[in-house]
Parts: sequence; C-alpha cells; structure tokens
Amino acid sequence: MNIELLMEAKITPYADSLLSEKQQVTAMFNNVASRYDFLNHFLSAGIDVLWRRKVINLLKEKQPEFILDMATGTADLAIAAARLKPKQIIGVDLSAEMLAIGKKKVANRNLSGLIQLMEGDSENLLLESNKFDAVTVGFGVRNFEHLDIGLKEIYRVMKKDGTFIILEFSRPKLFPVKQLYDFYFKRICPLIGKMISKDTSAYTYLYESVKAFPEGKQVLMRLEEAGFRETKWMPLTFGIASVYIAVK
Ligand SMILES: C[S@@+](CC[C@H](N)C(=O)[O-])C[C@H]1O[C@@H](n2cnc3c(N)ncnc32)[C@H](O)[C@@H]1O
Repeated sequence: MNIELLMEAKITPYADSLLSEKQQVTAMFNNVASRYDFLNHFLSAGIDVLWRRKVINLLKEKQPEFILDMATGTADLAIAAARLKPKQIIGVDLSAEMLAIGKKKVANRNLSGLIQLMEGDSENLLLESNKFDAVTVGFGVRNFEHLDIGLKEIYRVMKKDGTFIILEFSRPKLFPVKQLYDFYFKRICPLIGKMISKDTSAYTYLYESVKAFPEGKQVLMRLEEAGFRETKWMPLTFGIASVYIAVK
C-alpha cells in the first residue's frame, strides 16, 4: 500500500456521528437532496452545467452504447449523456432521496425508457462485469468511503477499451484565484449552504472533503493502480474542477 493512501485524511460529514462514513454521506445527501440542484447551480453560478457538458463532449466520438453514471445523485450527468444517443444509461447512487429527484427529472424529460436509476454502492455494484462502454462520475469519487475499491469496481463493470471519466473539484494554485476560491469555498458556500439546505455541516464538509481529496497526478496514480491505462488529467476553470480520463 502506498504511503499517500495511508496518510489520506478521513473527512466525514458529521464529526460526532457514530455512523460509518458511508452512512453519514448517505444521510447527508438525503438531507440536502431537495435543495441540491438549486445550490449546485447557484453556488457555481451555473458553471457546473458547462463542466458536465465537457464530460459528455469528451465521450462523443466514442459513441458509447452502454453508459454507467456512478454516484449519479439527481441524475444531471446521466440526463446530459442522453445526447450521446446510447442504448442504455444506468445511474447508481447511495441516496434514495437524490435518486427520487433524479427519477422525476428523467420522467419529465421522457427519458425513463433510456435512463434507469438505482440505489447502489460504488464499492459493491450489483452489475455484470465487462458491460459498460463508458462510466462517468461527477463530483462523486471524493465521497467514496474507499476510493480504490470503488475504482476497481468501476474497472470490473467496464468493457475492455471503455472510457472512464471523473469530474471532480480540485484546488486552483494561482494568485488571486486560489485566494478567492479559498474564501468563497470556506466562508461563503457553507453559510449559504446552511441557510438554504438547513444542513449545518454539508457545505463545510464540501470544502473539507475537497481539501483532503487527492488531485492531478495523484488521482492518475490511483486510476493506474486500479488497472486503468492512458490516464489523462485536464484542469477546468483555473483548476476549480478537473476532468480525469482513463481507459480500461
Ligand atoms: C456531490 S453528489 C454528485 C451528484 C451528481 N453526480 C452530480 O454531478 O451532481 C455526490 C453523490 O455521490 C453519492 N455517493 C457517495 N458515495 C457513494 C457510493 N459509495 N456509491 C454510490 N454513490 C455514492 C452520494 O449519495 C451523492 O448523491
């Protein structure tokens, strides 16, 4: 086991809780589900929509037939993937409340025949091996209790030569973006998040979990350790988010 893995800080949403990290993450997303989409678009000033579009554009030339959107939440990425005209999109998430909102959105867009949303754990997928041409995870891997187990499970369910794309927050390095980002993410987001979602910890956890999560080459290393090849990394919007691409 590599030393960075051992040193990775464990950040949980509710510090005093006796629940496991996974149970806390599920509870937190169940709590904020009804406000999640609004807060996402509001706090990111709508840039999150462009980031998800970028992920889908990267998959365009692959023309994937079977797509899995892990940690799909309210299904924004799964819905965006419908543009690729695949045969099937499956979205999996731990949180029943996030999925309930996702299901309504899918139905409202007449996509229920194409997109199937199901409760499940990225670390133990009830899905067959070698099935998916493409797997996406938007802002989800950071929440996995065991990142490496999740990555290996995703590898297992992917077809050979399939494409895996992670979209995740990262930390800008350049002045003054870094300073503005820190202030906004650490001070403003938790305040607004608390007021609107009524969850006192969720948006503090957001900042803490991003701070503790590996980024750049460290993520590529973890992907390679899980078996992926041709790993690439692309910072978006001054490095506020990053896209990681890998091939099975
Ligand atoms: C920040 S939300 C992202 C939702 C969506 N992908 C998006 O782009 O908005 C993270 C999601 O990851 C889910 N999640 C966390 N750990 C998970 C796991 N082990 N398996 C499946 N879903 C998980 C949470 O329930 C939550 O809905």
